[in-house]
Amino acid sequence: MDRRWWQGATLYQLYVRSWQDSDGDGYGDLRGIIGRLDYLEWLGVDGIWLSPTMPSPDHDWGYDVSDYLSVHPELGSLDDLDALVSSARERGMRVLLDLVPNHTSTWHPWFIESAASKQNGKRDYYVWADPAPDGGPPNNWLDFTGQPAWQWDAGTGQYYLHNFLTEQADLNWWNPAVHEEFRRILRFWFDRGIAGFRIDVAHGLYKDAQLRDNPPADAGGPLGGRFGLGAVYNENRPEVHGVYRDWRSIADGYDPRRLLLGETWVGNIARLASFYGQDDELQLAFNFPFVFAGFSAEDLGSVVAATLEALPAGGCPVWTASNHDVGRFATRWCGGDPAKVRLALLVLTTLPGTLVLYYGDEVGMTDVTVPAELTRDTLGGNSARPSRDRARTPMQWDDSPTGGFTAPGVVSWLPIGDVARCNVAAQRDDPASVLSFCRDLLRLRRERSGGSGRYERLPGPAGVWRYAAGDLEVAANFGDRPATLPGPALEVLVSTAGKRGQSESASLAPWEGVIAVRSR
Ligand code: NOJ
Repeated sequence: MDRRWWQGATLYQLYVRSWQDSDGDGYGDLRGIIGRLDYLEWLGVDGIWLSPTMPSPDHDWGYDVSDYLSVHPELGSLDDLDALVSSARERGMRVLLDLVPNHTSTWHPWFIESAASKQNGKRDYYVWADPAPDGGPPNNWLDFTGQPAWQWDAGTGQYYLHNFLTEQADLNWWNPAVHEEFRRILRFWFDRGIAGFRIDVAHGLYKDAQLRDNPPADAGGPLGGRFGLGAVYNENRPEVHGVYRDWRSIADGYDPRRLLLGETWVGNIARLASFYGQDDELQLAFNFPFVFAGFSAEDLGSVVAATLEALPAGGCPVWTASNHDVGRFATRWCGGDPAKVRLALLVLTTLPGTLVLYYGDEVGMTDVTVPAELTRDTLGGNSARPSRDRARTPMQWDDSPTGGFTAPGVVSWLPIGDVARCNVAAQRDDPASVLSFCRDLLRLRRERSGGSGRYERLPGPAGVWRYAAGDLEVAANFGDRPATLPGPALEVLVSTAGKRGQSESASLAPWEGVIAVRSR
């Protein structure tokens, strides 16, 4: 049973700085999480993924690590993390950390040494290159802000590569010493009881050995390369699979087995599936084609079908719809419409595989407009991408001015959203709330071992996504008109519209979804 505990599990991504502040400094922290674990147990989650917890100068809020074996002092201490892991365990929940192996902060001692001289023993930890013949950057690669991905270092007369900010230097995965460092890092955390990692930029670690120019992008959209260039040579190199086979053997050596969940930012489902290897690489690979699919039966249904078709035998899909980069589904898919939010939750919790909710999804939190002068995200807010702060604002616990996130009178690191419209306290005891609905769905998912069962698309009217999920039937009407379902009447267990019991007409209201058993 325990061997693949993530199959059918519900994970909860928790943006640590924004979930609960315990010491009144306006930033969320590990002690704050410990104080709120009862809520997660009540909600019914099986594990939490903590956004970066390691020390960092925070040019990219923890995705620029300066020490892989410790805890960011603003978030707590190693002791706090140990306490969190054991308190979570007592409640039947596991803790995953965020691991950033593609790059480090330029404040990391490895980089400081690497930049000290061309002869330094750590020089080859990073990707250094001579200028092009005209003295400019070695090739045409662009970073995440649309600027050249190369930073000139006058001290040693070479450029270093940074696929993200200048302060995030890319590691050189052609160097066996880098592999050895990360093996050590994995074991360090696994030995402390960490249940696994979400792996940042999982598709990106290796760069083309010849540093060839990227060709023009052959597709648009968020997964179609960077600023008009395809991500062919600066990411997506085949050698990365060897890293995951190696890490998988480490993860499988622990009891219970540890989980590797990749941030596989790829648009192609076959490539996504390749990260599972022959069930000997990552156990879960995030599905961004699903995230960016249109909110329709056709678009979502076809990504699900293609994914299930492409995964290797035993491969477990993972579904998520919101995160700290892509924003919240309640806005992207649902335009804030509570009926659509319920429909999305109903579908997400009944698909086969692992579910990852983002904090606040369960109460229908929407993106928050953060005024330019309060923006904290320096990487995301550029002409091509909106600031990612919109989905990083504090958890909305209650309707007080600080939303229950921090002490009264304290200014939180990012502004608080519309707590009058949406907060946990108001929804918790209201059986008709989105939160109660989500909790019911998660309970049903557990009881029916939803998520680990069978999925089969069933015929239905246009605009309706109908499928068998284990021994249940799900029907979701993605349309503004009522729809009539084929077949005999349904015994409705859950409906987004609050119906229950025998449904004579087997019909769905606009944007209604049901989980049902078929009457025989
Ligand atoms: C993906 C992370 O989710 C994002 O927040 C970060 O900026 C980049 N990787 C760089 O680490």
